[in-house]
Amino acid sequence: MSTKTQVFPVIWNQDRVLLIDQNRLPTEYTFVEISCCEDMAQAIKTMIVRGAPAIGVAAAYGMYLGAREIQTDKREEFLTKLEQIAEMLRQTRPTAVNLFWAIARMLRTAYESLGTVEEIKSILLTTAKAINAEDLQTCQAIGDHGLKALPSKPHKLVILTHCNAGALATAGYGTALGVVRSAWRDGRLERVYADETRPRLQGAKLTSWECVQEGIPVTVITDSMAAHCMKQGLIDAVVVGADRIAANGDTANKIGTYSLALVAKAHNVPFFVAAPLSTIDFELPSGNKIPIEERDSSEIYQVGNTLLTPAGVEFYNPAFDVTPAELISAVITEYGAIAPSELKQFQTKQMV
Ligand code: MRU
Repeated sequence: MSTKTQVFPVIWNQDRVLLIDQNRLPTEYTFVEISCCEDMAQAIKTMIVRGAPAIGVAAAYGMYLGAREIQTDKREEFLTKLEQIAEMLRQTRPTAVNLFWAIARMLRTAYESLGTVEEIKSILLTTAKAINAEDLQTCQAIGDHGLKALPSKPHKLVILTHCNAGALATAGYGTALGVVRSAWRDGRLERVYADETRPRLQGAKLTSWECVQEGIPVTVITDSMAAHCMKQGLIDAVVVGADRIAANGDTANKIGTYSLALVAKAHNVPFFVAAPLSTIDFELPSGNKIPIEERDSSEIYQVGNTLLTPAGVEFYNPAFDVTPAELISAVITEYGAIAPSELKQFQTKQMV
């Protein structure tokens, strides 16, 4: 793949979806074809497609793929079967609220459409495409607003990010990496530090790959090096993505985000969360009840075919943690940089 090629992880192609196989990056840039909702659910579970907004887009197409297979022209029967497809897709990953948001929007579209079953199916495809296109625009707006939120310094900025909240994790462009991308295109960025992000290494594998595509200078560090880098004054700002933000601003994101926020606070480095409004779960007053996905322990004890630990060891593998709102300088959304305590005012702007 040549440099500066735009990255779209979820593509509607004639009658099926093409997903970049994110488990094969950075060594192979390949696509997986998805033509039924069961395969889409499996692709989300196995993280062929991952990142909160991207799995929302993928689930929306999954809803359409499932809908088109329903063999009935009776509206009630169609809606009952569509609910079953929605439930199957909901069971894929628990933390990223964009998944549930996109499924709810697709269901609501179906219920509100008064046409024939064939017409509902067609509207569902249009809605999935709209969710995809809107996310791209939203990320670009987040990038623009990020430029205003970033600190003004006499030098170009160095931004630290965690996991991958880039084009691969969205419809394209990215949230946290969207801010980075905008800063780079605006000539305000010197380089990115990417936490490798154990255990699945989305930072080392995906964020660094995206930066290379765009020509953005990137330094990969192990997660345990962030405090040292901040103490040395190497980092001007931290920008991360989010999987679910509670109404009070508490933010679930990839495991390790919370410790990064604590370290940033200790070193007076601004800590930004970049996310679309669709990532805010206004139903949850605080982050205490955000469901945290636990993944297979092999992610910790095995790299390729190499075992890292002796037999007889136990593991705990939460995929996300919750950063308390008071550690977050602002949430950069498509409506601008918002103090966590002000998020509730934007509830009416969330498209549901
Ligand atoms: O487990 P993943 O790779 O899906 O986790 C991704 C993250 O935690 C991202 O930071 C988050 O989804 C934001 S993506 C714009």
